[in-house]
Amino acid sequence: MLSISMQFVSLPVACYITAIILALAKISEAAETITRYEVINDSMNLVSAGGKFKLGFFRPGNSENRYLGIWFNIPIQTIVWVANRNIPLNDSSGVLKIGDDGNLILVGHTESKIWSTNIQNMSSNITIAQLLDSGNLVLRDEKTQTYVWQSFDYPSDTLLAGMKFGWNLRTGLNRNLTSWKSADDPSPGDFSYAVDLHELPQTLLRRNSVKLFRGVPWDGLQLSGDRAKLNHVFKTNFINNSEEVYYQYDLYDLNDNLTTLVLTYSGVLQRLIWNNQSLEWFPLTKHPGDPCESYGQCGPNAICTVNDARVCSCLAGYMPKSSEQWAIPLWSGGCVRKKPLNCPKGEGFIELKGVEIPDLRQFRSNTNMTLKECRVECLKNCSCTAYANSNTAGDGRGCLLSYGNLIDIRLVALSAKQNLYIRVTASELDSPKKKQFVLVMVAASVASVLLLLASCIIWKKRTQGKLAFHHWKNSFVKSSE
Ligand SMILES: *[C@@H]1O[C@H](CO)[C@@H](O)[C@H](O)[C@H]1NC(C)=O
Ligand SMILES: *[C@@H]1O[C@H](CO)[C@@H](O)[C@H](O)[C@H]1NC(C)=O
Ligand SMILES: *[C@@H]1O[C@H](CO)[C@@H](O)[C@H](O)[C@H]1NC(C)=O
Ligand SMILES: *[C@@H]1O[C@H](CO)[C@@H](O)[C@H](O)[C@H]1NC(C)=O
Ligand SMILES: *[C@@H]1O[C@H](CO)[C@@H](O)[C@H](O)[C@H]1NC(C)=O
Ligand SMILES: *[C@@H]1O[C@H](CO)[C@@H](O)[C@H](O)[C@H]1NC(C)=O
Ligand SMILES: *[C@@H]1O[C@H](CO)[C@@H](O)[C@H](O)[C@H]1NC(C)=O
Ligand SMILES: *[C@@H]1O[C@H](CO)[C@@H](O)[C@H](O)[C@H]1NC(C)=O
Ligand SMILES: *[C@@H]1O[C@H](CO)[C@@H](O)[C@H](O)[C@H]1NC(C)=O
Ligand SMILES: *[C@@H]1O[C@H](CO)[C@@H](O)[C@H](O)[C@H]1NC(C)=O
Repeated sequence: MLSISMQFVSLPVACYITAIILALAKISEAAETITRYEVINDSMNLVSAGGKFKLGFFRPGNSENRYLGIWFNIPIQTIVWVANRNIPLNDSSGVLKIGDDGNLILVGHTESKIWSTNIQNMSSNITIAQLLDSGNLVLRDEKTQTYVWQSFDYPSDTLLAGMKFGWNLRTGLNRNLTSWKSADDPSPGDFSYAVDLHELPQTLLRRNSVKLFRGVPWDGLQLSGDRAKLNHVFKTNFINNSEEVYYQYDLYDLNDNLTTLVLTYSGVLQRLIWNNQSLEWFPLTKHPGDPCESYGQCGPNAICTVNDARVCSCLAGYMPKSSEQWAIPLWSGGCVRKKPLNCPKGEGFIELKGVEIPDLRQFRSNTNMTLKECRVECLKNCSCTAYANSNTAGDGRGCLLSYGNLIDIRLVALSAKQNLYIRVTASELDSPKKKQFVLVMVAASVASVLLLLASCIIWKKRTQGKLAFHHWKNSFVKSSE
């Protein structure tokens, strides 16, 4: 229609009309704020200033239910936040607006309140809601020009760049991820991913209360479990002070590629990067990834090495709790000490290089001790089973002491800086030497067997000829299988 009518007007006029149409379209699309007396209904959206995110009503998967959410402004529906996770709308009656008291509220049928920012101690009712280009929906007090509420403080299943994942110790706010129930249902599922505030913080992915994966974000080298360290899209931070303990990632360039960290409804923590050419999400990393990332895969006092034929092996000085189970292999029983420590006589430590530190719930920390002092401290107490450096990036100070079983140790990379020092008895300190000796003995006997075999082959060849030899070799291979 437009193209036909344009034949009857001059080009400048056509351009002018087009510009007006586009401008009008933009006005109705480009709102990024809601003020009093304005509403967002089921057929309207908020769009962030740079166009990166949209807020509005959506229907997930095959569901007939409707939810208020925020999503990436891309061709694939990628919901990053949901307001009314637990109370879906069953029709298109939903309206988002500023309530009389200044709170942002979502009402349905007959003005029934579905969801609200629910701030009790609001000092003024003059507020504006705004969708920022980071994907953060904020409620701003116009008098004080401060954010009285922000969606970044109440994550759903997605961690966006700039979001804080963890604790505000002053207010007790715990920002964590909860999976959707299914692709059709954003209500909270069984899986959660949270910063576990023990003496030392770590991150835990759980199914209800069962631990599935553990991350160690406090390592001075940043999130050491995250293999996506060497990338050009985002950088990770871990903040720990008296007020806050949180993990965060930031984009190197705000206009660069889109990325997100999502806890899927099947319980996988997935890092995705948007490919703006093929228009699809590219999976970068996932946790738990390999078998060693599954929490406590090898049971207590064992180490998980993903590239080994035997994934689990006991720490030096320990043996399988049940050798029958270990042989199956069923590793969950883990390992126990071969001999009790006979403190304090002649004990020492065996260094385990490039590992992810075991579950920190077993550890005490002292941020001011050097590694040497840490060792001395461990030797002082017979229940101390291991020690490690708690800050591999700083000046080397930082001591971790374990007084129990060592759970969830995995080999990361021999080049990684994190080492663990396992306490062993004096006799076990000598055992590396013994092992070497055994190895030499084995090598020697293997060599003599090979020599014998070679002699046999030559002898067979000479006496019975090639055909007979092949027959002999095949029968040998079969019987050795
Ligand atoms: C939303 O509001 C617009 C403008 O007032 C109106 O045209 C539209 O029908 C409304 N949509 C719904 C679902 O109420
Ligand atoms: C939708 O929900 C409202 C209450 O929120 C209820 O009164 C109404 O019966 C529901 N409609 C349907 C079709 O389930
Ligand atoms: C905002 O609060 C003031 C003072 O409490 C009140 O007088 C006024 O009616 C409120 N405005 C609205 C729109 O509710
Ligand atoms: C409301 O309470 C919160 C938490 O208790 C506090 O951080 C905030 O400053 C309070 N706001 C006002 C306006 O009093
Ligand atoms: C996640 O945060 C919510 C709200 O602060 C809290 O109720 C819940 O216990 C937290 N979950 C975990 C696993 O930390
Ligand atoms: C975190 O900060 C607290 C308080 O400043 C300190 O006691 C604790 O040792 C710190 N932990 C780490 C891992 O840096
Ligand atoms: C795709 O991303 C690259 C890198 O961020 C950017 O230079 C390019 O302009 C983008 N292309 C489109 C079509 O958005
Ligand atoms: C950004 O995305 C484009 C394709 O969409 C890709 O070619 C480019 O490598 C990405 N940039 C980074 C830093 O990953
Ligand atoms: C930490 O050690 C340094 C140097 O030994 C010392 O000056 C400082 O007082 C110690 N701090 C604490 C909290 O013990
Ligand atoms: C050794 O450490 C354990 C566990 O922390 C503690 O209960 C015990 O009192 C300590 N023993 C000595 C002699 O310090």
